[in-house]
Order: sequence, then structure tokens, then C-alpha cells
Amino acid sequence: MTDQEYNAKIEEQWRYIEELKLLVSERSTLLGRPLVSSVVTFGCQMNARDSEKLRGILDAAGFRDTENEDEADLVIYNTCTVRDNADQHVYGRLGHLNAVRKKRPSMIIGLCGCMMQEDHVVAKIKKSYPFVNLMFGTHNLYAFPELLVRTLSEDKRVIDIRQETKIFPESLPVRRKHFFKSGVNIMYGCNNFCSYCIVPYVRGREISRAPEEILDEVRRLVADGCVEIMLLGQNVNSYGKTLPEKTSFAELLREVCKIEGLQRLRFMTSHPKDLSDELIEVMAENPIICPHMHLPVQSGSDEILKKMNRHYDRAKYLDTVRKLREAIPDISFTTDIIVGFPGETEEDFEDTLSLIREVGFDSAFTFIYSKRKGTPAAEMENQVPEEVVKRRFKRLLDEVKVTAEERCARFTGRIMDVLIEEENREPGLVTGRIGHNIVVHLPGDASMIGKIIPVHLKECKGFYYFGEPVRE
Ligand code: SAH
Ligand code: SF4
Ligand code: F3S
Repeated sequence: MTDQEYNAKIEEQWRYIEELKLLVSERSTLLGRPLVSSVVTFGCQMNARDSEKLRGILDAAGFRDTENEDEADLVIYNTCTVRDNADQHVYGRLGHLNAVRKKRPSMIIGLCGCMMQEDHVVAKIKKSYPFVNLMFGTHNLYAFPELLVRTLSEDKRVIDIRQETKIFPESLPVRRKHFFKSGVNIMYGCNNFCSYCIVPYVRGREISRAPEEILDEVRRLVADGCVEIMLLGQNVNSYGKTLPEKTSFAELLREVCKIEGLQRLRFMTSHPKDLSDELIEVMAENPIICPHMHLPVQSGSDEILKKMNRHYDRAKYLDTVRKLREAIPDISFTTDIIVGFPGETEEDFEDTLSLIREVGFDSAFTFIYSKRKGTPAAEMENQVPEEVVKRRFKRLLDEVKVTAEERCARFTGRIMDVLIEEENREPGLVTGRIGHNIVVHLPGDASMIGKIIPVHLKECKGFYYFGEPVRE
């Protein structure tokens, strides 16, 4: 596709947004009130960013936004299918929406995101949830205006699922959740095919965005008030490999760090197999890159790591951790761990426990292995019995808790910069994060949101701190 053809496709969507405006205003005139929409996000940061694009388009079309989907005229579920419980969650909520919709038949229900890229899911929705009006997948998010026009003007269900991505919604409207921080996609898809994981099948092959495009987007966001940017990709460390002019993630970071006004830079997710010495150098040289590394390890057993197709072993992981600690002394480590992968023995599991102690993670997302249709692991023998997995999972949680509490306390008594993110549920308190990604609660009010202020970290409460703003 030439640039011209690409731009024509995007312009077409802008015209559909104009059409949407008319349709929405006609309907609201009839109803005598504005139309209300609700976008509900399941899954990862990448889905959260996609939802901001959906909301941007809905805003531009004239919808008002609500968090209460029960009162919405249009509900969009942006789905995740990484584990079975994510799927079950969506089915459960659809059941509930059906009851609401029976009282208000004009309600429109749309599904998009990763679940839609699985044939068996689409078949199930068609059969068991016939009231769903719109379904589209991860490869045609950019066509949301067009698909919504069709849904509002045609009297039948609209389904459009594609197998690859050529066009991205980057130049369509976006509504950010936070005015002071934003995610920025630097790549889409994944080429790693970890044997348990569905993501490469539902998100497609890895595609990196051109560096200039990313830099432009960050500049625009900073000019619009963002102080913190998080660069997003399933494996940011392999950024640039698919570009005509080869570049690396470390080089991209170097360029982003030069953008004036940007105060904090984060990224997610780093795959241990591709983490370069150059990246460690860039992190050490640039204080605006937060001293936090989310580095999913999945397991501490070499045997299991091999079966997972992760392309590193325990020793390599520990070596990377050591190098990062040497270069950035106080750095925080967080991780993802799967328990109960097929063939996991008690010994393998104990290797994971000992690795947690050895690294000293600041926190860990822990998951029970979930069989995903079509992945190699789903076909493996020796699936671990549920009872065994449950017992291991509990031991895993205990280990993570003990280690994390020990680690978190290391800043007690220090004065550190906190980006204030929101008001606390507790009146008179606000909540923010230090660069190391640890949460801090402190006295304050909404006027502080989006500001970075020095805070005395008085008391560590396990995973978070209570602090006191330092008066200058
Ligand atoms: N791209 C990231 C992870 C994306 S998915 C990476 O490679 O690190 C987020 C996490 O979900 C994974 O790190 C893994 O721990 C977990 N996960 C993925 N598939 C899973 C499955 N089938 N069962 C349980 N957990 C899974
Ligand atoms: Fe899944 Fe592995 Fe890709 Fe992460 S790197 S999204 S775990 S296949
Ligand atoms: Fe889930 Fe899709 Fe993200 S499967 S974890 S929402 S890429």
C-alpha cells in the first residue's frame, strides 16, 4: 500500500465520523437526550490504549461517556483472551447485559479485541449471544467509525474479523484516561510463540512503528500536558527488527529521552531473551527512564523454560538482573510467573520459589496456567492436576509477599519524587508513584494530580508507603 492509499483509508474513516455525528444527533433528538456510550476494557495496557482510541472516536461522534454500562445506549467490550478466566468474565457480563437489554431493547452491544480473533469464540457468540450487534477484531480497530455507521444504520448484525493488520488508528481521535500520562504503541503483535501463549495468534506478527512517528506522538503528548510516557509492545526489546532501516529499542529510548518536557519514561514489556547491554547503558545514562524493570520470568526451572519456548535459562535471567543492578543500583524488578505449566514437577516449582528469593522481586503477577486452544502447550502431556496447582499457587503467593515486603521497605525515611495520579478513596489523601513504581499515599487534594513533588516516605505498609509532602 502506498502512503497515498493509506492516507485515503484514514480519511475515509474521518468521513464516517461525520456520518456518525449525524446519526447520533438524529437519535438524540428523537430521545430528547444525548446518547451515552461505555467502553469496558479487559486485559493488558495495549488493550487499554486501544480503548482510548475507541473512546476518542465515540467522543468525536457525539456520544457522552458513562462508566455505568447498564445505562448506556452503546456498550463496547474490548476483550482479552490470554487466560480462560478473561473469556469467562466477558461471557458472564454479556449474560448480565442481556437482562438489562431486555428492559431497554434499543441498547447496542459491540465486542472487539483479542477474543474476536478466535473462530470458536465468534461461533459461540453468534449461537449463544445473538443479541450482540457488532463484532470486530484486533486488526481493524481503525475501521470502528465505518463499522459503527453500519451497525446504527443497517438492521442486522455486523461482523468484520480480519487476519492481518495493515492500517493503524494512530491518526484518528483518542481520549486519554489521564491528562498527565499516556501509553504509546511502539509495535504491534508478537513473533515469540511462547508455547502457552495465545497472543501471537490473536494479535498477529510483530510490526514496529517508524521511530519518527513514535517521536512525533510523544512530542504531541508532552505538548498536551503528559509528563510520563509508557512505551508499549509485547516485546519492546525486539523493537526495530522489522523496520527497513534497522534500529534498536535502546536507540529509540535515547531519542525519546531528548524530548524536552518529558519527565518520566517507562516501557512494557521486556522479554529477557532480547534485553541488550546497550539498553542497560541507556537506562543508566538517562535519569528520566524510570528505575523499574518489568521482566517476566515465567518459571525458575530450565526444563520448564525450554518447554515454554522462552529462549533463556535461569542463569541468563539472573545474569541480566545482576547487570541491571550494577548499572542502576536501586532498580525495582517486577515479573510475571506461571504456575502449573504442563510437566511442572515439585522440583521445577521449587526452582521458581528459589528464583523469587534470589532476585528479590518488588512484586509479581502470578498466574495459574490456562490451556489455550491452538497453542502447543495445550497439546502437551502431563497437564498438572488442579489440586496440585492450587496448592503451589498459594505457596507462590506467600513467597512473593514475603520477598516483596522486604524489598519495598528499602526507601523508608527517604525523600523521593512522587507523580500524583489520583485522589484516594480515603478523603484528604492522594495516591501516586515513585519512579520505581511503588505506590505512595499522602495528604493532598485533586489540585495536585499530574504534578511530581518531593515526598518524605515515612512508613512502609507492605507494598506501599504513607508519605508527607516536603514543603520547600
Ligand atoms: N509479552 C509479555 C506478556 C504478555 S501476556 C511477555 O512476554 O512478557 C502477560 C502474562 O500473562 C505473561 O507474561 C504470562 O505470565 C501470562 N500468560 C500468558 N499466557 C498464559 C496462559 N496460557 N496461562 C497463564 N498465564 C499466561
Ligand atoms: Fe505471549 Fe511470549 Fe509473545 Fe509475551 S512474548 S506475548 S508471553 S508469546
Ligand atoms: Fe489479553 Fe490481548 Fe493483551 S489477549 S493480554 S488483551 S494482547
